[in-house]
Amino acid sequence: MKQSIIVILVCSLFWTVYATIPPYIKVCSRNHPELNECIIKSVESLRSKLKTGIQELDVPPIEPLLLDEIKLRSGPEQAKIDANITNAKVWGPSGFEIIDLKTNLKKNRFIFRVNVPNIYFKGEYDIDMSVLILKYKGKGPITGNFTNYKFDCMMKGDLTEKNGKQYLHFRKFGLNLYIGHSDIHLGNLFSGQNPTLSQATNEVVRDNADLFVNEIKPVLENSLAQKFTDIANVITERFTYDELFPL
Ligand SMILES: *[C@@H]1O[C@H](CO)[C@@H](O)[C@H](O)[C@H]1NC(C)=O
Ligand SMILES: *[C@@H]1O[C@H](CO)[C@@H](O)[C@H](O)[C@H]1NC(C)=O
Repeated sequence: MKQSIIVILVCSLFWTVYATIPPYIKVCSRNHPELNECIIKSVESLRSKLKTGIQELDVPPIEPLLLDEIKLRSGPEQAKIDANITNAKVWGPSGFEIIDLKTNLKKNRFIFRVNVPNIYFKGEYDIDMSVLILKYKGKGPITGNFTNYKFDCMMKGDLTEKNGKQYLHFRKFGLNLYIGHSDIHLGNLFSGQNPTLSQATNEVVRDNADLFVNEIKPVLENSLAQKFTDIANVITERFTYDELFPL
């Protein structure tokens, strides 16, 4: 009787040890001679799970990523634009590829440089603009593609203690997007009544895509930074520092 209880205890102990870190989280020894490469591989093997979220760890899906309202208030003389973009949703960030990583484990600092081959977004616009001699006020769908955007992601963590164990907790990531190629399209211009004028206006929008991108960028950076920070912390709150970076 006594023996079987011990067996059960030992088994459940082993079970918890082995069950703690799921197989899709590849841990790197903190003394790994190629720590950066090891962490890159680890994050990349986790990536496909991030797109849809990891239910058993309460990690939310990355996509679609929701953006706060975007306001555009300026424009060159020939294209004065006042626009608000709402309900914007973004797909594609989970396709990131890590180009470079600099790890400073002593300071719990990780700097990732990442390429995102394709970001697609969709939202609704309200626009009030004067383009050339034309004044127009209307609303409709806005879509856009950002191709080959790079970003730098600065992660700084602090060690915190919980129940005598150390956990890594990240401050909000610093995230910087570098402009790749962008295409933006406004649908339903002129209520769909004037295809020629719609096309001409979309050409003006395309020529001034930077105006849109400059306003979208900080909102996208902020939203991505918050999402990635939350995801990282959900994972690091669940496993101790020693489990994630064993000796
Ligand atoms: C955008 O929103 C602001 C209020 O936040 C409003 O004053 C402005 O008229 C809106 N612009 C358009 C084009 O709807
Ligand atoms: C974005 O890419 C999609 C898929 O490749 C394409 O269907 C769409 O027309 C593109 N939109 C813009 C605004 O370039």
